[in-house]
Amino acid sequence: MKTTIKEAKNHIGEEVTIGAWLANKRSSGKIAFLQLRDGTGFMQGVVVKSEVAEDIFKTAKSLTQESSIYVTGEITEDNRSDLGYEMQVKEIKVIHEAHDYPITPKNHGTEFLMDHRHLWLRSKKQHAVMKIRNEIIRATYEFFNNNGFTKIDPPILTASAPEGTSELFHTKYFDEDAFLSQSGQLYMEAAAMAHGKVFSFGPTFRAEKSKTRRHLIEFWMIEPEMAFTNHEESLQVQENYVAFVVQSVLKNCALELKVLDRDTSKLEKVVAPFPRISYDEAITFLHEAGFDDIEWGDDFGAPHETAIANHYDLPVFIVNYPTKIKPFYMQPNPENEDTVLCADLIAPEGYGEIIGGSERINDLALLETRINAHQLDPESYQYYLDLRKYGSVPHSGFGLGLERTVAWIAGVEHVRETSPFPRLLNRLYP
Ligand code: 4AD
Ligand code: MG
Repeated sequence: MKTTIKEAKNHIGEEVTIGAWLANKRSSGKIAFLQLRDGTGFMQGVVVKSEVAEDIFKTAKSLTQESSIYVTGEITEDNRSDLGYEMQVKEIKVIHEAHDYPITPKNHGTEFLMDHRHLWLRSKKQHAVMKIRNEIIRATYEFFNNNGFTKIDPPILTASAPEGTSELFHTKYFDEDAFLSQSGQLYMEAAAMAHGKVFSFGPTFRAEKSKTRRHLIEFWMIEPEMAFTNHEESLQVQENYVAFVVQSVLKNCALELKVLDRDTSKLEKVVAPFPRISYDEAITFLHEAGFDDIEWGDDFGAPHETAIANHYDLPVFIVNYPTKIKPFYMQPNPENEDTVLCADLIAPEGYGEIIGGSERINDLALLETRINAHQLDPESYQYYLDLRKYGSVPHSGFGLGLERTVAWIAGVEHVRETSPFPRLLNRLYP
């Protein structure tokens, strides 16, 4: 019977056939250990010379890395491996013989691996990262579906620039100009007025010349938006959502976290509520910690965020940033009008900001003032202003960057390994 490495756990003691690739191999005169992978997982296949036909052992010994095969054999328990079982191989049918596979078990430089990203994806750690990414996406849908949200898809080609044009990719749209979306937020606000609670999940683009371990040019964002919801209520959704995602990965990706040597004790602590500090408190904290380079009104850089994050075991919300360093649509803080009702969620362990969110201005006149102050063209925001003309309500929302969240949960140093085919400042291939 045909099965997969993952499903083979239900076939202990039975003979099965699995379509697989040879990831690696060790052999001696009497025995060959095949490191098999089939997409669902990695498993050892044991070929014992005295127990198989002569040509099968010969095939096993000469198999080259990444050749594709059908292997048949009995699944047996094996407590030494993380998987818990292996295959006693009886038969091997070669489908395609691979020669000179470029990624060998030796160490390769990152640029070489990125040039071979289409093949690098097959390796055990990269495989584990993508499985964790997939689990985060799955848990995201589960969380929002269970909490009464409707998934709405904002457009990717847009005519206007929600947060200023400096970071936008420009393209022609027949005779008009268009931009690739940097955020679906403004459309999600319209959707929230139709459906109450909505979320999106899709690609976003930033033509930002940043070359850090946290920046991609193309990244995927989850953007929930909620009508009749103030900022404090939004923070509660954010912490419950992030904690749910982390706990789902712990539950469903234990093997992958082990492959990546992730310290899971740090993730186990991630339960709501998360600590909150104000921007003002963060500035005081940084001054006390010896950061003389930052003043009230400055945005935080990576070292500042990391210093603040290191103070906590949990993700931490920095709330109420100065108005002047945030986008036009944020609701003023009634307790200090120089700041807004917003928060960035900073992940632990130096992974930086994973969420940006805020309460949105719902007063038409104030919003018009803010659009003018930011020298944006009111013409292109007519649809957005309409939301404040016809049954305006308090509403809040946020955007979670998928790749930074994967990097943190999987414990991967650089976001380039959290996207299957990352678009970076210096990379559009493969
Ligand atoms: O803070 P940002 O820019 O917020 C927005 O776009 C809002 N309109 C979202 C909303 O309220 N609906 O981006 C949100 C998140 C960041 O916290 C970060 O996790 C991620 O998106 N992000 C990036 N991830 C990878 N590479 C980049 N260049 C990123 N820029 C932002
Ligand atoms: Mg931000």
